[in-house]
Amino acid sequence: MAILEMKHISKAFSGVYANEDVDLSVEKGEIHALLGENGAGKTTLMNILFGIYTADTGEIYWKDKKVVFDSPREAINQGIGMVHQHFSLVQKMTVLENIILGLKQDGLFLSKMDARKSIVELAEKYGLRVRPDARIRDLSVGEQQRVEILKALYRNVDLLILDEPTGVLTPKETQDFFEVLRKLKKEGYAVIIITHRMSEIMAISDRVTILRDGKKVKELVTSETDPKELSMYMIGRELHGEFEIQEQSDTGVALELKNVNIMKGEKAILDNIHLTVNKGEILGIAGVDGNGQTELAEVIAGIRKSTSGEICFMNESIQKATVKQRFEKGISYISDDRHADGLVIDMTLKENMLLKDYDKEPFSKKGIFNKKPIEEQAKNAIEKFQIKTTGTTGMESVVKLLSGGNQQKIIIAREVTEEARLVIANQPTRGLDIGATEFVRQTLMDVRNSDRSVLLISADLEEILALSDRIAVMFGGKIVGVLNRSEANVQKIGLLMGGMTKEAM
Ligand SMILES: Nc1ncnc2c1ncn2[C@@H]1O[C@H](COP(=O)(O)OP(=O)(O)O)[C@@H](O)[C@H]1O
Ligand SMILES: [Mg+2]
Repeated sequence: MAILEMKHISKAFSGVYANEDVDLSVEKGEIHALLGENGAGKTTLMNILFGIYTADTGEIYWKDKKVVFDSPREAINQGIGMVHQHFSLVQKMTVLENIILGLKQDGLFLSKMDARKSIVELAEKYGLRVRPDARIRDLSVGEQQRVEILKALYRNVDLLILDEPTGVLTPKETQDFFEVLRKLKKEGYAVIIITHRMSEIMAISDRVTILRDGKKVKELVTSETDPKELSMYMIGRELHGEFEIQEQSDTGVALELKNVNIMKGEKAILDNIHLTVNKGEILGIAGVDGNGQTELAEVIAGIRKSTSGEICFMNESIQKATVKQRFEKGISYISDDRHADGLVIDMTLKENMLLKDYDKEPFSKKGIFNKKPIEEQAKNAIEKFQIKTTGTTGMESVVKLLSGGNQQKIIIAREVTEEARLVIANQPTRGLDIGATEFVRQTLMDVRNSDRSVLLISADLEEILALSDRIAVMFGGKIVGVLNRSEANVQKIGLLMGGMTKEAM
């Protein structure tokens, strides 16, 4: 028996459909996955259910009654809870205070004690480990997520909506989190989990509804499908998935870091880094965000100075070289922050393509720009990287009006040139849809297959495993292990990412 039926739901924003005639049915005690690329309409559909938006057309049946929720408060009162991608906890308040926030209280002191008791019980029952008196700002993302879930459970919901809950978790945290979901399921809760990770859908869901371009394309029983079929429905065509790894002829050292340190006061942000990247190699850097990966990328690109140590590129110390000099020697950097370092978003595609070479021939001579080669370069980038510009503006498109995937393609077109001998790619596919992701990965693979080097930093383990010849794992500013492709797997890397040493495995 379905506890929830959404029927023929449509919702348009300024005339463009975010949801078009979508059906969704969820049962009690079911974990239902909602799958789709970025922009497919998943969050919109859930925001409609949760009372944040009102559908233009369509009906919602909740526990066999037709409902329209005018606000999240109403949805919660009727038994529907939602944990958003971006948490909404009050940072300076405690866990307990956050959970009871906004609830009616009579006899403040007493109810707070009662609340603590039932929260601790709930937490224990479902394995949601939290400290009731800790302040939110002192908690890890994983802990904050547990608070959000507890907050919903404390309000007696029957259905829990989770919007991309695992994006911020380590592999170990994801495992624990799935245990929580299994316990909820056993107790009869219904769960809707939004994700675009096939492996998670296969591991945790009972059924899956797939959205594409705002429409429902398929509902499947998870045990009767596989990742290949899922991705086919999700993107409307088959993926290559595996990359062909070619043998390399020239495998000398391209980049070498010797005892590189960055200190911030007493704290080592980069801690005694020894690392080589060979020619014809993709060296993957795995790790949870914020363990020194970006500092490593920046110290190689020259954006950041090391406190001590030495960096050599093609057997030559580049310690004193500027960012620009390093770029000219063939070190390119694809930043994880497209807007801060990669692009000037108020400028056009054509201008952004020129950012690094504006003072060079043939683009300019003695300060005078040369229109033809500049436009030629932009035109080639659009063609080669299939950049979708806005309307008819083409290379004159202002970058901020393009989608994230197309913005990233501009950076890649500019950075991954023939002259690039080492490409540092920092989270190059984060936030991109699957088509653009595949394109970026193939581009990096092509660099490798032409005997050049890639340093690939990614929080996405599947990406690291699919592309890397060797994998270094960072934790707390250190490289805690380097694995060859043949010995690497998700478990081993996951353990290292969580701070286990290679010896302890
Ligand atoms: N408040 C809004 N205003 C305008 N467009 C929106 C709004 N919310 C979502 N959209 C658009 O609706 C489409 C679906 O978005 P969303 O539901 O967030 O997708 P998903 O969660 O699957 O990535 C996107 O094209 C997005 O830009
Ligand atoms: Mg979303």
